[in-house]
Parts: sequence; C-alpha cells; structure tokens
Amino acid sequence: MSPTASASGPAAPGTRLTIRRPDDWHVHLRDGAMLRAVVGHTARQFARAIVMPNLRPPITTAAAAAAYRQRILAALGESDAAGAPAGPASAPFGADFTPLMTAYLTESLDPAELERGQAEGILTAAKLYPAGATTNSDAGVRDLAHIGPVLETMERIGLPLLIHGEVTDPAVDIFDREAVFIERQLIPLLERHPGLKVVFEHITTADAAAFVAEAGPNLAATITPHHLHINRNSLFAGGLRPDFYCLPVAKRERHRLALRAAATSGNPKFFLGTDTAPHAREAKESACGCAGIYNAPYAIESYAAVFEQEGALERLEAFASTFGPRFYGLPPNTGSLTLERQDTEAETAEAVPVALELANGTSTPTRLVPFHAGEVLPWRLV
Ligand code: DOR
Ligand code: ZN
Repeated sequence: MSPTASASGPAAPGTRLTIRRPDDWHVHLRDGAMLRAVVGHTARQFARAIVMPNLRPPITTAAAAAAYRQRILAALGESDAAGAPAGPASAPFGADFTPLMTAYLTESLDPAELERGQAEGILTAAKLYPAGATTNSDAGVRDLAHIGPVLETMERIGLPLLIHGEVTDPAVDIFDREAVFIERQLIPLLERHPGLKVVFEHITTADAAAFVAEAGPNLAATITPHHLHINRNSLFAGGLRPDFYCLPVAKRERHRLALRAAATSGNPKFFLGTDTAPHAREAKESACGCAGIYNAPYAIESYAAVFEQEGALERLEAFASTFGPRFYGLPPNTGSLTLERQDTEAETAEAVPVALELANGTSTPTRLVPFHAGEVLPWRLV
C-alpha cells in the first residue's frame, strides 16, 4: 500500500476534480438479494458497466442476458425507491445507468446465438472463462480449439472477447498462471484470429502489461483498483486477509508497480475495470474463502488515490472515461463526476466503513467488507 513518489505532490484540501462520467468495464453484479444490495454502488459512479455472466447457471443465451438486464434495472428501481444503500454518502444514482450485457462462452454455445444477441442490441461482448479458473467457471472452456467457430463469428461481427487470462493447469504455480496463459493460450489465439477484439481482463503482471502495450490495436486490458494498491504480501499482513483474496491473485511488488505505470501512462490500451466481486462476509471469512474484492462503493476514489500518488491526476479521466468507450466503439458519456480532496489528517476526514450492511429486499441485510475498509482515502465523491 506504500504510495509511490508523486511528481506534483498531493492536491490541497478542498481542491475539486471534475471528470467526464466514467464507465466500469468489468463488474460482477450477481443476482437476487445480492444484486439488490450492490447495484446502487456501481450505478452511482458509473454510467455504464460491462456485466459479467458468471451466474449460476451462467448467462449463455441472448434471452438470458435480456432477462438479467431487466432484473438489474428492476433492482436499481427498488434501491432507488429505498434510498441510496448504506455506506458511502448518498448520491443520486441509478436513473441513467446502462448495464452492458455479456454472454458466457461454453463449448456447446451456438455462434448464431452471439450474432443474434449482438444484432438485437443485447450483447456487448462475450466472456471466456477457462474451465475451473475462478468463481462459477466450471461450465467454461476446457480447450480453445473447441470454440473455433464461435471465435470466428466474433471476429467477423466485431463482438469483443473478454478473457480471464489464467491457465488452469494445477502444475503451474498460481502466481505464474497469468504469464503462462500469455505464452500458451493468448499468443496462439491472437495469431489464429488477428481481427478479433480482445480485452485481457484484470491484468496482474508486468508480463501482461508489456504484452498488451506491444500488441496490435485489437488487444486492450482492464486494470482493477485493488491490483494497483495491494501486492501479495497484503494477503498475509499480520495474518490471513481474506478480503484481499481475489483471482487472479495479487502478485509481487514489481508487478504492482508495472500496473501503476501502465494505468497512469496515458496509453489508451489500458482502461478502468474494477472487477468488483461481492461475496458475503461469511463466505469470505471461511475455511475456504471465496475469491473477490468488493470495491464498487469507493471505486473511483480508489483509482484517484493511485493517480495522485503517481503524479498523474490529469490522466485519470482518460483511463476512467475515454479509453474504454473508444475501444468498444461506443460514444463517451456526456455527464460528469466531481471528486473533492479531503484533508486526510483532519478529524473530520471520512473513512471507509469497516463493514457494510446493505438492504436487499429481504429481512436479513447483506454483509460485505468494502475494499479500503477503515482507511481514509484522499479523494471523495461530491
Ligand atoms: O476474484 C474474483 N472474483 N475473480 C474472478 O475472476 C471472479 C470473481 C467472482 O465472480 O467472484
Ligand atoms: Zn471478474
């Protein structure tokens, strides 16, 4: 968590920073009670979000994606009616939030389903989970050779492929699975499908950052706030820290620094995708804790801290609000979002709550630990 030296120094308390309204190009909104608990946190900051399809059962058809989109919009309406969810100071949200839907690739998916989903304006992308790589990925792809026609169709119709880039070979060390994926899977895939638009999601290594920077214009990457803040030591600081466990797992410090350099470089191939992945507190703090970090409540504040520490606040807007739509071929948003610098030493400084109890339409609230729990972040949403 050590901040890197800043070229320009921290901004004075009270300084305001207004940026074009951002989008989140990678979120897990879940379903049912969890969806109702979390959707407001994403919608209050982001105009659009790419919604991951790893539900149980996964979203594998255009019809399922359309129905899920309706459930998301309905949940937003309900949280609007009930007021902003507890946690960050309430802000208007929801009315102008657009969920962008994705399909989950399986080995039995009919390519025509993707074509239809895109033509009907339901599908924005499709997600590749190597089978067994992460949460609800069992139905994913065992061998890329088995989905050749699907990838050919996506290449032809310009439907972006979003990749969870880790090999699942148990013989490969978990800290090496992303770098090995580049060699074994990604390079051959890009050679077979040179016209395919690919987003290498939530990159965690210097290897991935360098590979994306050097690749052609069809390859981009999202970077999460947590991989910019924590390294693998954070998982074991003073004891086992399940709230810092996610997949791909955080790597060594040199990788974190490479990701910070990439995110703040101004290179349009790197853009915002939080991978906010809520799991109830009980499911994280367990003998076999789930992978995922709930960063939606303070996502833009988390990125702003990094950009300030790197002396690159003037590049936050492009990373958060311009480069993503440009890659997806969508117009940038027209609204704006304003952050204010707080005096982090002041008694009045607002800290991130250590836990959230969120209303979800049932009698039992959803208990989540937000990323940065207990910390004072330098920027807060106005
Ligand atoms: O940490 C993660 N959580 N990584 C993923 O790839 C999936 C996500 C989830 O759905 O919980
Ligand atoms: Zn994810």
